[in-house]
Amino acid sequence: MARIFNYAMGTEIVYGIGASKDTGKYAKDLGISRALIVTDPGIEKVGLLEGILASLKEAGVEVTIFAEVEENPLDTTIERAYELYAEKGCDGVIGVGGGSSMDSAKAVALLATNPGPLMRYEGFAKAENKAGTVICIPTTAGTGSEVTTTSVITDSKRDQKTVVSGPQLTATLALCDPELTVSLPPFLTATTGMDALSHALECYVNTNTNPISMALAYRAMELIGKNLRAAVANGQNLAARDGMLMGSLLAGMAFNVTRLGLAHSAAMPLGSWENKLPHGLANAIMLPRVTEFNLMADYERFAEVAKALGEDIEGLPPREAAFLAVKALDDLVADIGIPARLGDAGIKRENIPAIAEETMKSRNTLVNPRQATLQEVIELLERSM
Ligand SMILES: [Fe+2]
Repeated sequence: MARIFNYAMGTEIVYGIGASKDTGKYAKDLGISRALIVTDPGIEKVGLLEGILASLKEAGVEVTIFAEVEENPLDTTIERAYELYAEKGCDGVIGVGGGSSMDSAKAVALLATNPGPLMRYEGFAKAENKAGTVICIPTTAGTGSEVTTTSVITDSKRDQKTVVSGPQLTATLALCDPELTVSLPPFLTATTGMDALSHALECYVNTNTNPISMALAYRAMELIGKNLRAAVANGQNLAARDGMLMGSLLAGMAFNVTRLGLAHSAAMPLGSWENKLPHGLANAIMLPRVTEFNLMADYERFAEVAKALGEDIEGLPPREAAFLAVKALDDLVADIGIPARLGDAGIKRENIPAIAEETMKSRNTLVNPRQATLQEVIELLERSM
């Protein structure tokens, strides 16, 4: 259907095995002379910064490291990182890590050009100025944060996950090096990979999708369907890591302009308050059940999802072919060792009504292919327990 849509992509991408060893050159080209590296303590500990630091040194870029980003980063953590940025007179931010580190780096760059506190920019396109120079270097194949214009942040006052988003929050450069993902442990590979798959799938089927995003998302589903098991089975399999990083990148480029669906709507409250479920794990558990719920909105579309995930749909009527998408997801989640139920992941049944209410408020819920009532979302969460 010829619906009017807009597709913008403001981030330059450099992709390839070993690409991060040239971080210094790219930083210099972007005019960075004093960089703040924003990362988490684990990245520093496993030595993932070494090649990046060496190349920055060689290029004559001064470096300050802020390695205090936590899982589900707090607004106050990002404000502390910005204070360090200002104190050291930095002129660029380099985010190294998963979604938490890259989201934090983009938010620090936003504070470099817009007055704090950070939470005044909660929501969409609230900041006046474009963020300062920021390079995002992913070490997981999951969030696609290197190319999205969103930072997911936990508001410390409400202890609740929320977003700061909009074109102001665009990374200047996404520097994607599959080698940096080989040390990611199997379970994190599995959950972050399912986050990337959720991005591709929810974008592909939602009511706000467009032909450009669909092309990117379809290829992302193929790559993740083909490579996630192999990457979990053997982290050193560089071809599988390459397929996963490209898959998560393409998925990020796809969903950034379309929003997502009910799995992501639920992942926010599932990661808030006492629930604190990691984002990828929440999506991995929700995606098969959400897909099952959504099927009847468009059997043909879900048959395409099944095909992208490697199912043989040849000669099958669309409804039967569509059901193979659910089977493909259930099989994948089981194979890569993710608990299939929210209860097994520590979510309490009595929290479901509050989680459902918050799920209904998400902007992702508005574009889910099947319109859901509060009662239906409660039932969906119950089925996932
Ligand atoms: Fe996500």
